[in-house]
Amino acid sequence: MLATKYQDSVFASILIGLIIALVKLLLPIWVRAIKLSRIPLADKRPGEFLDTKRKQRMVQNYRQILKDGLEKYPGGFQIAGETSRQIVIPPQYANFVNVDPRFTTAEPLDAFIKITFAGFEGSNSILGHTKSKDMFLTMMRSKINKNLGNLTEDLVDEASAAISETWGLENEWHELPLMSAVLSVVCRLSTRVFLGPDLCKNPDWLQLVVRYAINTFVCARTLRRYPEVIARIIQCFLKDCRVLRNQVATARRLLGPYIAKHLETVESARRGIADMPRDGIVWMHETANGQPYDPVIIQLGVSVTAIHTTTDLLTQTILDIVAHPEIITPLRKEIEQVVAEDGWRNMTLQKMKLLDSVVKETQRLKPASGATTGRYANEEITLPSGLVIPKGAFVFTSMQRMWDDEDYPDHEEWDGYRFYNKRKEPGKENSYQLVSTCPEHLGFGHGLHACPGRFLAAAEVKVALSYILMNYDLECATQEVPKPLINGMEFMSNPEAKLRVRRRKL
Ligand code: HEM
Repeated sequence: MLATKYQDSVFASILIGLIIALVKLLLPIWVRAIKLSRIPLADKRPGEFLDTKRKQRMVQNYRQILKDGLEKYPGGFQIAGETSRQIVIPPQYANFVNVDPRFTTAEPLDAFIKITFAGFEGSNSILGHTKSKDMFLTMMRSKINKNLGNLTEDLVDEASAAISETWGLENEWHELPLMSAVLSVVCRLSTRVFLGPDLCKNPDWLQLVVRYAINTFVCARTLRRYPEVIARIIQCFLKDCRVLRNQVATARRLLGPYIAKHLETVESARRGIADMPRDGIVWMHETANGQPYDPVIIQLGVSVTAIHTTTDLLTQTILDIVAHPEIITPLRKEIEQVVAEDGWRNMTLQKMKLLDSVVKETQRLKPASGATTGRYANEEITLPSGLVIPKGAFVFTSMQRMWDDEDYPDHEEWDGYRFYNKRKEPGKENSYQLVSTCPEHLGFGHGLHACPGRFLAAAEVKVALSYILMNYDLECATQEVPKPLINGMEFMSNPEAKLRVRRRKL
């Protein structure tokens, strides 16, 4: 009898415990759902209770849905995003959202590119809530961005070798698949900076970083289709995810011994018996200052964040230039004049104001993504518009101002001189450089999480473009210049685009 009573009370305690745990788990989700339901939903249609069709329309018609949403709900609204409902913040609050540390980026990145899954360590190491991300950001700001002046000559040296090899030395017209021809050049430039002059010519490593980055996005796209719990299970069995994990192992095999040897050279250089190498391995080592980090994984992270974004910008800029060939002669004149005056230094690149304007205009019309990286609200936050963002909500800032006549008259037109002319306005000399960020141009984001690699990306794009324009005649291989591919928030320069080029006789 006593034993039964005891069993009953144990059972009751377990049941109460379970109920409390369940309430604790579900209550915040329920409260968030109630708060979210007060925020208007864009593209709402009668009789549509699920987001399935809304999500499909977002993929096909993202820009128009956002534009209509902003006109109808200027204080902010929700959309049916690919991974979940997301709150769209109007661009006038870009300053507010992007400088408030209560908004973080790792959670939306995890929802989108699964950075905490096995195989995705590269992305997690420089984008997640990790110590190595903090070290990497410090390294970018205090070492790479500060050393760009010294790195310009290395970039010019590598660009001339890489472009001559991949674009050819023939004076006859020949065809190139543009994106892959640009990718191989950017990959070499980026590897030169992060790993030095030997590895940037190692075909095994170059192939691996390109494939690892592509595979990261392929796996993430597949896994996004499933709820988190299921995605965590099926990633163990998916072939592409297995390949991704194998690529991490291959990276360790290829790079591990090289890095170890390189760091020995650093020690010898400290003792004065070797020259100090100048690259990302050394700068990361100095920044870490004895704290643990994984140098191989960091290099994989660079491949995901740096190479394809820069390739996309350079590819689209070349396409815009061949669509507006009248800009080529003034660009050549500027490059010729500035290099004749100053040689190749970072200052030289800064003086190329028309080239800078051309790239910025391309990025205005076709940024890499239609919205800044998402943000996660770590607590309930009220916008100046009165919009209450519940804790745990995903938000992002609309880029609509980049496509607005008020800020950019004839905004649909590509005008290579647009920012060149804006910089002539008094006090605006520095506001409209490619690397400047502001709420009306969010191509590199803005505020706390603005891209730390934009100075390097700008240098790489400008060096490569200068070399291409001065050494090649170029035209589109098709009658119409291929349009970018837009898939929801992803805006990508057309991978099918072909270019006709011939080496100029100088
Ligand atoms: C044209 C090339 C590039 C484009 C268009 C680009 C674009 C962006 C954008 C839009 C963001 C998010 C900003 C925000 O949410 O406010 C970002 C963040 C970031 N980018 Fe880039 N990026 C480029 C090149 C690079 C390069 C070369 C590197 C590194 C070598 C890099 C490393 C990063 C990192 C680490 C972050 C996260 C910053 C943080 O969370 O604080 N990016 N980038």
